[in-house]
Amino acid sequence: MCGIVAYMGYRQVVPILMEGLHKLEYRGYDSAGCAFLSEDRQLKVFKARGKVANLERLLAEQNVCSTLGMAHTRWATHGGPSELNAHPHLSQSGHIALVHNGIIENYATLRSQLEKRGYTFRSETDTEVLVQLIEYVMSVRKDDLATSVRMALKLCIGAYAIAAIDDRHPQQLVAARKASPLAIGIGENNEEFFLASDASPIAGYTKKIVYLEDEEVAVLERGKKVRIENLHTGVVDYEVKEVDLDLSMLDKGGFPHFMLKEIFDQPAVLRDCMRGRLLEKDGRHRVVLSAVEQYREQLANAKRFTIVSCGTSWHAGLIGKQLIEHFCRIHTEVAYASEFRYSDTVIEPGEVVVAISQSGETADTLAAVEMAKAKGAFIFGIVNSVGSSIARQTDTGTYIHIGPEIGVASTKAFTGQITVLTLLALALGKTRGTVDEEEYEEVLAELDRIPDKIKKVLQQNDKIKALAQIFTYARNFLYLGRGWNYPVALEGALKLKEISYIHAEGYPAAEMKHGPIALVDQEMPVVFIATHHQLYQKIISNMQEVISRKGRIFAVVTEGDEQVKNLAVEVIEVPATLACLAPLLTVVPLQLLSYHVAVAKRLNVDQPRNLAKSVTVE
Ligand code: AGP
Ligand code: GLU
Repeated sequence: MCGIVAYMGYRQVVPILMEGLHKLEYRGYDSAGCAFLSEDRQLKVFKARGKVANLERLLAEQNVCSTLGMAHTRWATHGGPSELNAHPHLSQSGHIALVHNGIIENYATLRSQLEKRGYTFRSETDTEVLVQLIEYVMSVRKDDLATSVRMALKLCIGAYAIAAIDDRHPQQLVAARKASPLAIGIGENNEEFFLASDASPIAGYTKKIVYLEDEEVAVLERGKKVRIENLHTGVVDYEVKEVDLDLSMLDKGGFPHFMLKEIFDQPAVLRDCMRGRLLEKDGRHRVVLSAVEQYREQLANAKRFTIVSCGTSWHAGLIGKQLIEHFCRIHTEVAYASEFRYSDTVIEPGEVVVAISQSGETADTLAAVEMAKAKGAFIFGIVNSVGSSIARQTDTGTYIHIGPEIGVASTKAFTGQITVLTLLALALGKTRGTVDEEEYEEVLAELDRIPDKIKKVLQQNDKIKALAQIFTYARNFLYLGRGWNYPVALEGALKLKEISYIHAEGYPAAEMKHGPIALVDQEMPVVFIATHHQLYQKIISNMQEVISRKGRIFAVVTEGDEQVKNLAVEVIEVPATLACLAPLLTVVPLQLLSYHVAVAKRLNVDQPRNLAKSVTVE
C-alpha cells in the first residue's frame, strides 16, 4: 500500500510534502494528491492521476500558502486509478480531509449504512467511506476530530494508516495506524510535526521519530507533546527514538534491495491477501470470495479451466492446476499466454480462462485473454494491479492485494497468487461439493498458519546467505522437484537465472534421468526440493542417482529431516505443512538463495539486465 506525508508547523508545507512524496515514489503508485489548510482556514484539495510531477504541475498554478497539510500516493485497491478515486477524500460537508493507506474490508456495509443516513459518495473507494464515517460520528457525538477518528476506526475492519485534518479543528493533525506503517517526526520544542509512511521523508528534518503501533491514534498540536491513544485502552506511553537514518537504505524500508524487502514482506502481505477472505470463527475456517459468490454458476459448472500467464505467474498457474483439479475435480490446463494467443485452441462455451498477472499489463497475457474472450470463455482474473488492462478485460476475479512489487524478480506476487488460487480452489470445491469438510477445514487452518511459518523460514536468511557464497563460481544449476514442488523447482531456477545470470534449469526430479543427468558432475550444484510428502522416498532415489555421478546436492527439506541431511552437502529446513501448501514455504529459501548469489556477484538485483518489471511488448 502506498504513501502518506503530512506536516504541521511553521514552514511552508508544499515543498515538504512534494519532496516527501518523491521519496515514497519507490513504493509504486497510480495517482497522487494533497490537501492544505490555508491561512484563511480554507481546506484546499488537489489531485492528479499518474506521477507526482503531474500534481506538482497542478500546484505550480496555485499560490498555496499553508503550514498544515498532507499528501498521498495511491496504490488502488478499491476503485481503479483515477483523479476522482485519488486521495485526499473530503467528507460530505467538505470540512474533513483524509488520506489512507490500506484496506477497509467492511467498507461496503458501512457505506450502505451511511447512504441510509443521507450520505452520498463521489468515489468508488473504501477510503471515502471512512472519512464520511468520521463526519457522521462527529455529527452525532459532537466530539473533536481525534475522538471522532477513534470512534470511527472502532467500527472498521481492515488495515489502515491515515492522516486527517478538519478545518473546524485547525490546531489538530490526527494520525492512526493498523497493519500499515506510519512514523511521526517531532521537531524542536514540539513546534513542528511530520507524518510519513516511513522515515525517509522525515529524515532531513528531525531524528526524533515515533513509530505508531497497531490501533493507535496520535494527536499532533503545535507546542504540545504528541498524545497517543490506543483504540481500546486509552492514552499510551511511547518511545521517541533518536534515529540516525541512512537515506539510501530508508527508501527500501531498511533493506538493501526491494527484492529482499519483498521477500521479507511475504508474511505480512499474505495476511493482507487473506484478510476478509479467510475467516475464522470459534476455531472453524471458511473462505469468502465475492467473485465466487457472484459467479457461482459460471465457475462451478465450468467444463474446463485454462490458466494463461507468463514467467513466475505461469509457475503459479501450474500449482493452480493441481489445486483446482484436486479440490474442484475440474480438468485444468495451463498455457503460456504467448503460445495460447496464437494457438488454434478449442474453447467451448462455458469454459473458464484464468489470467494470472502481477502487473496486469503483460502483453501476451492480455492478448490471450482477449482471444479467449472472443471465443466465448468466461474470464477470471488473479491480478495485483487494480484497474490494470488485464483486470479490466476480465468478467470477474480476485485481486491478490500484496501491494506494489518493485523488484523485477517476482517474489511476494508468486506466493500471493498461490494463496488466492488456494482460496479459489477451496471456495469452488466447497460449492461443488468435491472437497470434504475435514480437508476444507484442515487446509484453511494450515493456510492461516503459513505467514508465521514463512517467518520461521526467513530466520535462516544468514545461513542461506553463507551458502550462496559457494555458488558464485557455478555456471549451471539443476533444480529438481516432484508433485506440488515441481513448479517450485521451475520458479527457483527462474529466480536464479533472472538476477544472477547463471543458467539454471528446473525439472521434474524423475524426468532428470531422461537426459539432464548427463550434465551432472561435481561442478554443477543440484538443488532438490524434498519435503516430507507422498513422493519423498522417490526423490531420495533421484538423489542417489545424482550422488552416484558425483553430483553435489543442496536440498530444501522438512525440519527434522535426517535422511536427506546425510545425502546433501547442505539442507535448508522449512516447517512441516500440507503437501498442497508446501510451495508457499519451499519457494522462500530459493528466493533468498538467488538473491544472495546475485548480491555476492555484485549484480543489480532489483533491475537485472535485459528485464522489465512488466513486459508490455510481444
Ligand atoms: C518473474 O520474476 C519475472 N519478472 C517474469 O517472469 C514475470 O513473472 C512475467 O513477466 C509475468 O509478469 P506478470 O505476472 O506481471 O504478468
Ligand atoms: N484502499 C484505498 C484505495 O483504494 C487505499 C489504497 C492505498 O493504500 O494506496 O484508495
